[in-house]
Order: sequence, then C-alpha cells, then structure tokens
Amino acid sequence: MPRDRETWGPVRNFSATATAELLASGTAVTRILAIANQKGGVAKTTTVASLGAALAELGRRVLLVDLDPQACLTFSLGLEPDSLAMSVHDVLLGRVSASMVIQPTADGPDLLPATIDLAGGEMQLLTRTGREYALRAALEDLLAGSSSPYDDILIDCPPSLGVLTINGLTAATEVLVPLQCETLSHRGVGQLLDTVADVKRLTNRGMTVLGVLPTLYDGRTTHAREVLADITARYGLPVLDPPIAKSVRFAEAPACGRSVLTTAGRTPGAMAYRELARRLVAGALAAPPAEIDVVDQRSGDRLSVAALSQVGEP
Ligand SMILES: Nc1ncnc2c1ncn2[C@@H]1O[C@H](COP(=O)(O)OP(=O)(O)OP(=O)(O)O)[C@@H](O)[C@H]1O
Ligand SMILES: [Mg+2]
Repeated sequence: MPRDRETWGPVRNFSATATAELLASGTAVTRILAIANQKGGVAKTTTVASLGAALAELGRRVLLVDLDPQACLTFSLGLEPDSLAMSVHDVLLGRVSASMVIQPTADGPDLLPATIDLAGGEMQLLTRTGREYALRAALEDLLAGSSSPYDDILIDCPPSLGVLTINGLTAATEVLVPLQCETLSHRGVGQLLDTVADVKRLTNRGMTVLGVLPTLYDGRTTHAREVLADITARYGLPVLDPPIAKSVRFAEAPACGRSVLTTAGRTPGAMAYRELARRLVAGALAAPPAEIDVVDQRSGDRLSVAALSQVGEP
C-alpha cells in the first residue's frame, strides 16, 4: 500500500541544517547527496560511482541509488539490469522495501539498482498520492530499520527535471551539481536552481546546495576557468575543489563493472574523487587546496589542484 504524505510523521535524518550540526558534534547521521543536472553527459553517474567508491575506501558505509531508467550506474558497477528481478522501480511503487533490493558491489558501496522498468514507473508514480516522497519514505524506512545505517547515500538522478529527479531532491540533505566546463554549460543551471527552490519551498525545506563540481575539466584552457567564473558570478554557487580532470580512463571503467578507483586508481581523476571524498567527510569542501604552494617552474605561476589534476595522465 502506498503511504500518503500525512501518515509519514516527522522525518529523521533529512534536515541539512541538522546534518551539519550533527556532523560537527560527531553524532552518526546519514548524509544523502543527490547528484543532479538535467543536462546529459556531465558525469552524474561517474561521480556517484567514483565518489561512492572513494567514500567506501575511507571506511564509510555507502549506498548508491540508481534513479535513472537508463540504469547506467547499475551496469557500470557490474550488475546486469535485464537480469534483476526487482529494482528501485518496485521500491518507489511501494511493492517491496529497499532492503530487499539492495545488493553489494565489488567496489564497496551497496547499490539500489535500476532497470528500464523505471521508465514506466515514472508514469505510474505520476498518478500516486505523495509521488515526490516515494524515495524519501523508502530511505527513511531503510535507515530506521537498520542497526548500522549508512553514513552516505548518493543518488544518481536522470538527465531530466521530472518526478524521478524531484524524488531524488526531496530525499536529499544536499544536492551536488556536476558541470562540464564548456560554452553554454550554464544554460539549464538556472532552471535546475528554480526546481531546487521549488523543492525547498514545497517538499524538502532543509535541503542545501553543496555546490557545482567541475567535471571533464581541462584546466589548461582559460575557457574552462572562464566558464566556472561565470557560473559563480551568475548564480553565486560554491565551486567544489578539486575539479575532475578530463581522462579517457573514465570511459574505460564501466566496461569492467568497476569504478575508476579500481581500474585506474592512481590517475589524477581517481585521486581527485578521493580528495573530494576526504573533504566531504572532513566538511572542508571550501578549503583551499593543499597543493596551492606548488609553483610552475617555467611560468612561475602558483598551481592549484585545478591545474595539477589535469597534468600527466599515465
Ligand atoms: N572526467 C571525465 N573525463 C572524461 N570522460 C568522462 C569523465 N567523467 C565522465 N566521463 C565520460 O563521459 C560520459 C558521460 O558520463 P556519465 O554517464 O557519468 O554522465 P551522466 O551525466 O550520468 O549522463 P546522463 O545524463 O546520460 O545520465 C561517459 O562516457 C563517461 O565515461
Ligand atoms: Mg547518468
């Protein structure tokens, strides 16, 4: 039976302000991070897989949620979506609990997988009462029923602003926006922020925007830096550090069913996700990069992680 919004009662684990306070006090609390951008191909799925693996490496208990009917996250972590009997689709429709569907992955995090059924499920959800809250309710039940709940839940949103992404944002304590730093990449950011504002007003007041994560970043071009500066000036969003350098290694990883941390773990891209995970756990995303004092021998310029992370791919 789908539950309707009034029967849910006070929600635990979902206020971002409370999350920050509890993290500061050292109390165990689940961070729920929605990775969202309706623009396609900006590395949402790659970020969920890589950041999730990096958080697991730090000893965190991590759950990844595939909310995309394309099921790319599910496939890229070694599961065959077509062979799954149950998926997040069944969970969203209230047929089964999330704990019955979650599977371990070789990279460390658990996964709530998706199948193509989710495309039809999106339509079915639209007619349901409280449709925006389906994922949030499922995760709340999961956390409430577990004696050792997850430290981090990362949600891979589809490239749209439909009911699935709204479910991801409504369940989240924070949203992270991957952004490819190229011409016109700011287009759509305003629309995404309008949706985020609606979610904050209507379904999830405590959610905060963690910031923009530059992906497929080529710090050698002034253009990439200009795009980032423009985004900051235009929308006042924090830009997370380090940016994730462009690398062919990312495209190779999904075919192995593992994240880039396993398939090319010492490359700058993998190291950047590790650093991001470390800063996320330390609550120090805005801190200046540690390598800021490195000086380019030829130009005399000081180099940031932004510059370092795209240099010298093995
Ligand atoms: N840092 C990177 N450097 C080079 N290629 C990358 C990088 N990150 C991701 N990619 C590649 O870019 C493509 C798109 O990445 P990904 O699937 O993660 O994007 P997405 O935002 O989830 O896409 P969609 O909107 O379709 O869900 C993939 O082929 C992926 O391997
Ligand atoms: Mg994706």
